Amino acid sequence: MVKICCIGAGYVGGPTMAVIALKCPKIEVVVVDISVSRITAWNSDQLPIYEPGLEDVVKECRGRNLFFSTDVEKHVAEADIVFVSVNTPTKTTGLGAGKAADLTYWESAARMIADVSKSDKIVVEKSTVPVKTAEAIEKILTHNSKGIKYQILSNPEFLAEGTAIQDLFNPDRVLIGGRETPEGLKAVQSLKEVYAQWVPEDQILTTNLWSAELSKLAANAFLAQRISSVNAMSALCEATGADVTEVAYAVGKDTRIGSKFLNASVGFGGSCFQKDILNLVYICECNGLPEVAEYWKQVIKVNDYQKTRFVNRVVASMFNTVSNKKIAVLGFAFKKDTGDTRETPAIDVCKGLLGDKARLSIYDPQVTEDQIQRDLTMKKFDWDHPIHLQPTSPTTVKQVSVVWDAYEATKDAHAVCILTEWDEFKKLDYKRIFDNMQKPAFVFDGRNIVNADELRQIGFIVYSIGKPLDPWLKDMPAVA
Ligand code: UDX
Ligand code: ADP
Repeated sequence: MVKICCIGAGYVGGPTMAVIALKCPKIEVVVVDISVSRITAWNSDQLPIYEPGLEDVVKECRGRNLFFSTDVEKHVAEADIVFVSVNTPTKTTGLGAGKAADLTYWESAARMIADVSKSDKIVVEKSTVPVKTAEAIEKILTHNSKGIKYQILSNPEFLAEGTAIQDLFNPDRVLIGGRETPEGLKAVQSLKEVYAQWVPEDQILTTNLWSAELSKLAANAFLAQRISSVNAMSALCEATGADVTEVAYAVGKDTRIGSKFLNASVGFGGSCFQKDILNLVYICECNGLPEVAEYWKQVIKVNDYQKTRFVNRVVASMFNTVSNKKIAVLGFAFKKDTGDTRETPAIDVCKGLLGDKARLSIYDPQVTEDQIQRDLTMKKFDWDHPIHLQPTSPTTVKQVSVVWDAYEATKDAHAVCILTEWDEFKKLDYKRIFDNMQKPAFVFDGRNIVNADELRQIGFIVYSIGKPLDPWLKDMPAVA
């Protein structure tokens, strides 16, 4: 029986290993983590992450051939294939601060593998890492090898949160990079056999190590670039009276461009896009390619601009002040169907509104008060350190209250900001919300999910990203 151990029981490690265990009943899969609370949650009825379909998969395999444990060393020692899916935060100090990936957790995982291994192993990079990380890991392992042979593979994960299980069941492609030596090719083949249990062979791509590592950064950069492109257009649409949804539809009809990932929004979030692009920028700079670095930097700049533009629009529309006004924030997660708040645009929007002294009443169906308070008080990039996964008592922002109902959040509010596209926000009784709000009542739709015309009929002043402006907003121009 092949034994797999995955170091890191997070958003990537947990769902990926659960699906491998489901699809490969003959393989024993153990997911290990240093976070006791995370492992306890994986072993309970309340999984540590919310992901549609995940619970069913875990329930079917847990205790059969899927296990979660804090005994990291034991399970790494016993495994034939070790996946590494630990945090790769952006460095906050020192060389490359604010851009480069901090490989502290990766390096310590590699050193631990070298320390405890008693048999040959395939070590698989699962978390996104800078190009050439495999070389560093290889050096750590071979210099401490005690005669044990290691093969390093890069097998980046392309799942998106909220659809992770579907993405894992039916991936567009699986990518495996390895050394082009006989041993390297053999290791690639071993991993390929795992995925071939459910993924058609022609969708399993094999490349050299560096291509696999770079493809992941490139894919995320391309996806983020599409969003920044449509968001940049949304600003121009508002200025000219064009409708970004119509423009995106017309543009996306070109089969060379395609229709996906062209939804204008308050900005992209999530643990990958910004981090990976910063990483790409840093790698370009290190390789003497400042023009290429500058090109990708713009994707982040436009994303930041979009969030600032949204805040400015809110404040400008409400007579240039939101001081002491209650603003309801609907949605805090970085997208629907996840409780994940990493790099969510809601953080910057809320901080912007708080900077103008607003009082915020926040509701998200999946995000806890603790998490929101932590996010609003944490320093940039600190979210990606395992210490923040441990329960702590965060300092709280007093002007923020977190409630468990959209109607409670909007009661007596001056404005509603929709920051996540949860389906339930489309179905709210907006007449009831309007009746219980201060007047004039505003809706700022950062995800273009409400029917603006219907809301205007009710009496709301409505702002939708990239849509022809409400007459009220035309008279209150926002300078970004
Ligand atoms: C992304 C990649 O899609 C995935 O392949 C990779 O493995 C990890 O990073 P994820 O961050 O989970 O996945 O979600 P994704 O669906 O890509 O959304 C990222 C952000 O972009 C979200 O904030 C989402 O709301 C936003 N978005 C997405 C838009 O604003 N408009 C769109 O058209 C699509
Ligand atoms: P991702 O979204 O990439 O899955 P997460 O932050 O959700 O990232 O998960 C990374 C996990 O890795 C965390 O649960 C963290 O506790 C764990 N981790 C970090 N370093 C180690 C280590 N040396 N050994 C075991 N687990 C680790």
